[in-house]
Amino acid sequence: MSTEQDMSKLLRQHIEMESFFAGDFTMKTKPAAAGRQPQDQAMEEIASQVRVCRKCEIGSTRTHAVPGEGNPQARLVFVGEAPGGDEDVQGRPFVGRAGQLLTKMIYAMGLGRDEVFICNILKCRPPNNRDPKPEEIHNCLPYLKRQLELLQPEVIVALGAHAARTLLETDLAIGKLRGRFHEYRFSEEAPPAKLMPTYHPAYLLRNYSYDNRKRVWEDMQKVVVELGLPVPAASSGGGKQD
Ligand code: URA
Repeated sequence: MSTEQDMSKLLRQHIEMESFFAGDFTMKTKPAAAGRQPQDQAMEEIASQVRVCRKCEIGSTRTHAVPGEGNPQARLVFVGEAPGGDEDVQGRPFVGRAGQLLTKMIYAMGLGRDEVFICNILKCRPPNNRDPKPEEIHNCLPYLKRQLELLQPEVIVALGAHAARTLLETDLAIGKLRGRFHEYRFSEEAPPAKLMPTYHPAYLLRNYSYDNRKRVWEDMQKVVVELGLPVPAASSGGGKQD
């Protein structure tokens, strides 16, 4: 990468971080992803199984299943709760308002959506965005586990209580889990991933205080450090107003 490209990446990262703190929700785009990788086929096979899955009732009420999307070589995976209305219509994860905030967070970390993988615990939308039922998690989790086993990311960010508790098999509150790395085991043999729980972007939108944004941003900075990526410069934060 040339010095000029480096500078423009750093500048965009800084602008996104500033706007994350300042509350500007304009979407920014990023150049297209690099070429397809060999792992695509195995990931696409899982996605095809998800698209025809009818194990739960919500398999019949969905418009589209949302298997997840991103780079099959991703070092970083974001796992949310379940598709919402916009995701159900488009068949893509995190494309609604919470998704726009997640996208801004990813950009502020110096990454693009095409460099990470984004998915959910449930692949179908629960009606009226209700909480996932235990039997739905039970039915759907094998798809996510297979995706994670194939991806073997170095870091997983669990967005919100449902993702964190499911992946860590705990009942602890998200406030107790977030802010530090836990281990996620793909299998007996493979080295575990580091798992960072943080607040769900939808929670952040509902509770858009400076302190909550700071907490999430601090969690994401730890992820950036863990991945050995350039740490975004400290933000002015637009003052400490909510
Ligand atoms: N919330 C989620 O948890 N997942 C999505 O894909 C969108 C909103």
